[in-house]
Parts: sequence; structure tokens; C-alpha cells
Amino acid sequence: MNRPPKPHRSGARPPKFSPEKIPGHIAVVMDGNGRWAQERGLPRTAGHEAGEAALFDLVEGAIEIGVQELSAYAFSTENWRRSPDEVKFLMGFNRDVIRRRRDEMNELGVKVRWVGRPKRLWKSVIKELEIAEELTQTNQVLTLNMCVNYGGRAEIVDAATALAHAVQLGEVSPAEVNEKLFQSYLDEPTMRDVDLFLRSSGEMRTSNFLPWQSVYAEFVFMDVLWPDVDRRVLWRAVEEYGRRDRRFGKA
Ligand code: IPE
Ligand code: IPE
Ligand code: MG
Repeated sequence: MNRPPKPHRSGARPPKFSPEKIPGHIAVVMDGNGRWAQERGLPRTAGHEAGEAALFDLVEGAIEIGVQELSAYAFSTENWRRSPDEVKFLMGFNRDVIRRRRDEMNELGVKVRWVGRPKRLWKSVIKELEIAEELTQTNQVLTLNMCVNYGGRAEIVDAATALAHAVQLGEVSPAEVNEKLFQSYLDEPTMRDVDLFLRSSGEMRTSNFLPWQSVYAEFVFMDVLWPDVDRRVLWRAVEEYGRRDRRFGKA
């Protein structure tokens, strides 16, 4: 049996949403840790540390309102361009967070999946991700995609490469290639389309996060630095989402 999420420490309860106004898949760009730390005269790494609680509060708040899938951008294929010290910190930090949170995720019924490229990623990070995936694989309350060493273009290029190999081997004919088949070569083929794309810190860009999956996502940019985010911010974004008119090309 899974345990229910703990209420937010403020005692805040989720607003009443009608079920069709709940996004099935929420993607989150967790941005602004460095600025949060800078504002306090702290090293950037202190901002990353402070951001851990925000993610896991969002997980509980997402479960409270019945979200099915949450994708968290933890490290991008472009983040290797940061200083060696920050990259090293982020690798160790991701490894430790995944390890120390896995039992809690399992108790909540969260299925953890790693989405991203193995290339360059620390073996110890991959190992922790795989342990968490294995431990939580049958859980059904919420799927948490941990996007570590993820890049949207990398994902599409890797899929195209795998598909080219399949064509070369005669397993697939070029005439068969369509969106559905192409998607089956993506890193996580069963990932549903993103309904709500959130970014903290006030930046209004996607930074290479889930381009294939977000073509019809609703975008909400939040003027809050990531360590200051909690589930109440998520619920406000879902309220905004509920006011959007999603047409998918129809008139
Ligand atoms: C997001 O915060 C965390 C990662 C990208 C890993 P940043 O580190 O990008 O913080 P800012 O954007 O510099 O404030
Ligand atoms: C996006 O944030 C990546 C993650 C949150 C992991 P960045 O801070 O790296 O993005 P840019 O550089 O501002 O576009
Ligand atoms: Mg940033």
C-alpha cells in the first residue's frame, strides 16, 4: 500500500479542479538556483541544495491533484559547459538525491524513470537511477521522469540514428516511417505529450527540454526562483492551465 502525500507544511489544501482541467503530464524546468544563492551571498551550489525540497514538494502536490506524469529537468546536455567544479557538484548531488529519495518515492507509489543520454554521465549517477527505476517499476500513482543529461535535440538525433540502423538492417522500410514509429525510437517512447510546461526563474525559453513532446503544451513561466517554488506555485500554474483554450489546430 502506498502512503498518501503529506499536506504542505502551511496546511494549504489543493483548489478543487475538475478532472478534465488536470494536466496529465507536467514538464518542469527547475531554473534559478544560482540566482537564489547569489541573492544571499552564497555559492551557486547552495542554490542547488536548496532546490531539492522544491522538487519533492511538487511531487506530493502533483499527486494530491491527480497528475499522472511529471518530468523534471535536472541536468541538460548543455550543462556540461559550466565550470568543472559546478559540473562535479551537480553530478554528485544528483547521485545523492536519487539515492536518498528513492524509498520515499516508492512509499508514495511514484515510478521513477531516467530520461537522458548515458554518454559522459557519471557511472555512479546511472547506477543510482537504475536502482531507483528497478525499485519503483511497478508503481502507478505518478511517473517521475528524472531528466539527467537530457537534451531534446540529442534525443531526436539518437532516435534518428537508431531508426537509420533499423532501415539499414532491413527491419524498417522508409515508407513505414511516420510520427508514431519515430516516437518509438525516442528515449522513453511511452512518455505522453506534455500538457503543461513550467519554468521557474522568469526565463522564457525551453532550453532544449522535451521539444518533441511539447509541441502542443501550454507554457507557464513563473517569476519565482526554483528554491522558492512549492506545490502552491504548481497549483496556481494548473489554475492558469485550466483557463487556456487548447485547440490542437481545430477551428
Ligand atoms: C537550475 O538553476 C539548475 C540547473 C541548471 C542544473 P541554475 O543553476 O541554472 O540557476 P541560474 O539560472 O544560474 O540562476
Ligand atoms: C535549463 O536551465 C536546464 C535545467 C534546468 C537542468 P539552464 O539554466 O541550463 O538554461 P539556460 O542556459 O538559462 O538556457
Ligand atoms: Mg539557469
